[in-house]
Amino acid sequence: MCGIVAYLGEKKAYPIIIEGLKRLEYRGYDSAGIALLNGKMQVLKKKGKVSELENHASEQLENYDYSMGIGHTRWATHGVPNDVNAHPHTSNDGNISIIHNGIIENYDSIKKALIEKGHVFHSDTDTEVLAHLIGEIQKTEKLPLEEVVRLALKKCVGAYAIVVMDQNDPGKLVGAKFSSPLVLGIGDDEFFLASDASPIIKYTNKVIYLNDGEIVTIKRGKGYCIKNLSNETQNPKVSELDLKLEEIEKGGYDHFMLKEIFQQPTTVATSMKGRINSKEGWAILGGMKPNIARIAKSDRIILTACGTSWHSAMIGEYLLEDLARIPTEVEYASEFRYRNPIIKENDFIVALSQSGETADTLAAIKMAKAKGAYLYGIVNAVGSSIARETDSGSYIHAGPEIGVASTKAFTGQSTILALMALYLGHHKGLIEETYFRKLLAELESVPSKITKILAKDDHIKYIAGEIKNASNALYLGRGYNFPVALEGALKLKEISYIHAEGYPAAEMKHGPIALIDMYMPVIVLATNKSAYEKIVSNIQEVKARKGIVIAIVTEGDEIIKEIADFIIEIPEIEEPLTPLLSVIPMQLLAYHIAVMRGCHIDQPRNLAKSVTVE
Ligand code: AGP
Ligand code: GLU
Repeated sequence: MCGIVAYLGEKKAYPIIIEGLKRLEYRGYDSAGIALLNGKMQVLKKKGKVSELENHASEQLENYDYSMGIGHTRWATHGVPNDVNAHPHTSNDGNISIIHNGIIENYDSIKKALIEKGHVFHSDTDTEVLAHLIGEIQKTEKLPLEEVVRLALKKCVGAYAIVVMDQNDPGKLVGAKFSSPLVLGIGDDEFFLASDASPIIKYTNKVIYLNDGEIVTIKRGKGYCIKNLSNETQNPKVSELDLKLEEIEKGGYDHFMLKEIFQQPTTVATSMKGRINSKEGWAILGGMKPNIARIAKSDRIILTACGTSWHSAMIGEYLLEDLARIPTEVEYASEFRYRNPIIKENDFIVALSQSGETADTLAAIKMAKAKGAYLYGIVNAVGSSIARETDSGSYIHAGPEIGVASTKAFTGQSTILALMALYLGHHKGLIEETYFRKLLAELESVPSKITKILAKDDHIKYIAGEIKNASNALYLGRGYNFPVALEGALKLKEISYIHAEGYPAAEMKHGPIALIDMYMPVIVLATNKSAYEKIVSNIQEVKARKGIVIAIVTEGDEIIKEIADFIIEIPEIEEPLTPLLSVIPMQLLAYHIAVMRGCHIDQPRNLAKSVTVE
C-alpha cells in the first residue's frame, strides 16, 4: 500500500526515484508525486499513474542536477485521489516537504490547533497536518530537522513511514517508521529510503529494516544515524539482500500475475526444499523443531490472517485437525485483534502473510504476544515486520509476489501448512507410517502435477471466453475444496470486478440457489473422493435451474463430464493436498476473464498489495 522512494547521493535523483516508484507500483496507489532539492525545492504531483507524473515532470526535471529527492505513490485514506492530495506535502512556509505512508489518527485535533495559529491547509490529508506540525515546531524550537521530526512524531498517534526534506537544511533526509515499513539502502556514497527493497536492489544489497519508533538521519558525506523516539542512538543490523533484479521483472509474461501463476511448480518445490523426504520418511520445519514437543502439546492452534492468506489458513484448519488432531481456529486478524479473544499459554498462534506487513495481522500478533502466546509466522517477504515480530516461523520462499492478486503465496502457505500438519501428526504418532509416506510422496509430486494443469491454460482460456460477460459467479466446494471456492471467488472479484461468492457446496440450497439461472456460471470444485456423490447431486441441483456448470474434476471422471457444461481435469492426489492443485484453474480462469474484460491485472482498482493501514 503506497510507495516511498528517497535518494541522496551523487547521481541524478529524478530517474532513480521515478524508476523506484515504478517498481513500487504493484503495491497499489492512485496518485504520485516527487520533490527534488538543489538549492530550491521543486514539488510535482499528479493523480493517476507514475507515467502521468513522468509526462508532467520530465521536461521540467530530467536535465536538472538534483542529487536528492523524495517520491511517493499514494493510496488515499484521507481525501479523494487528486493532484492536491497527492504527496509530497509541504509545511506552512513551504520549506519542508514530506511523504507519508499510513494514517495520522489524531490529525484533526492537531489541525485545529495549527489553524488557530494561522496555518492554511490546501489538502484534505492527514499528511499535510504532519508537514505543518513539523514546520511549526521548527519555527518555535529552532532545532535540527531530525530533532524536530522526533518531537512532532511524539505528538502523533497512528501509523507512519515518512521521509522529510528541508530546503534550508540541504544534504539531509530524515526518515521514520511506525507500523508501516521503511528500508534504508546503503550504497557507496549514496543512500536510499524505500517501502521495500525493490527500488534499492539495482544499486546495493546492503539494507537496514527500520524498527517501529526509529528515526534515521542521512547526511551527505557523513553517513547515517538511527535513533529512537526517546532520542537514544540505535545499533542497527545491516542485512544483505538475497534478491535478484530479474525476480522483480516480468520475464516475458504479459503480467506479473501470469508469471507468478506459472512459477508455482518452482515456488512450491522451493517451499518444500530441505523440509521433506518421502524416501527417508520425514517432514520437518526448522522453525518448529526446537519447540516441537511444546507445540505438539498445544491445546489449540489459532491461525490468523487476512484475505487470501486467511483462505490458506482455512486449509490449515482442515489439515491440522485432520492430521495432527489439534483443535484449530481460523481468525480474521482484523476481528481477532479487537474482540478480546481468549488466549491461553498453551495456544500456538500462527500468523500467515505474504507481505509480512499487513497492519491487521501485525496488530493481532502484537496483541497475542502481550497475552503471552507463542507466535509463529508463515511469511513470504524476508525480513518483514511479521517475520521479525513472531517468535519463530517458516518462510515460504516464493520470491517477490508483485501482482496484487496473490497466487504463488497461497500455494506456498498451503504447502507449509501441509508440512506443519504432517510434522505434528507424525511427531504425535497419529499418522500411520505407510499413509504418512504416501502423503509425503504426494506432496513431493505437487510441482509436476501443477505443471500438468498449467498445460491446460488454453482450455481454461476458452472457458473464460464463454463466461467473461457474466455479472455474477458462484464458486462451490466441499471439505478441502471449500476454502479454494472462497479463494476462486476472491480472485475473480479482485481482478475482473465480477461479483462472485464462494460457498460450501451443500450450503447452496440454503439460500444462494435462489440466484441460479441460465446466466449464472457456477464453478464447482468436484474432486473430492469422500463426498463425490454429494457433489454430483449439488451439480444436478444447479443444472436443474439452468446454471452454467464449470466443474473441476479428477482426471478420468466420466460422470460429471456428462452433466457439466465444461470440465477442467486435474491430476489425482490425496484429498488433504487437493487445494494445491484445484486452486490453479481458479487463478487462470480469473486471470483470463479479467484480461478479456480489459481490466488492470496487476494493479486492480482500489486494491493495494500490502495493506499497511487498518
Ligand atoms: C490477495 O489476492 C489479496 N490482494 C489480499 O486479500 C491479501 O491476501 C491480504 O491483503 C493479505 O495480505 P498478506 O498476505 O500480505 O498479509
Ligand atoms: N493518509 C495519507 C493520505 O491519505 C497517506 C496514505 C498512503 O499511505 O498513501 O494521503
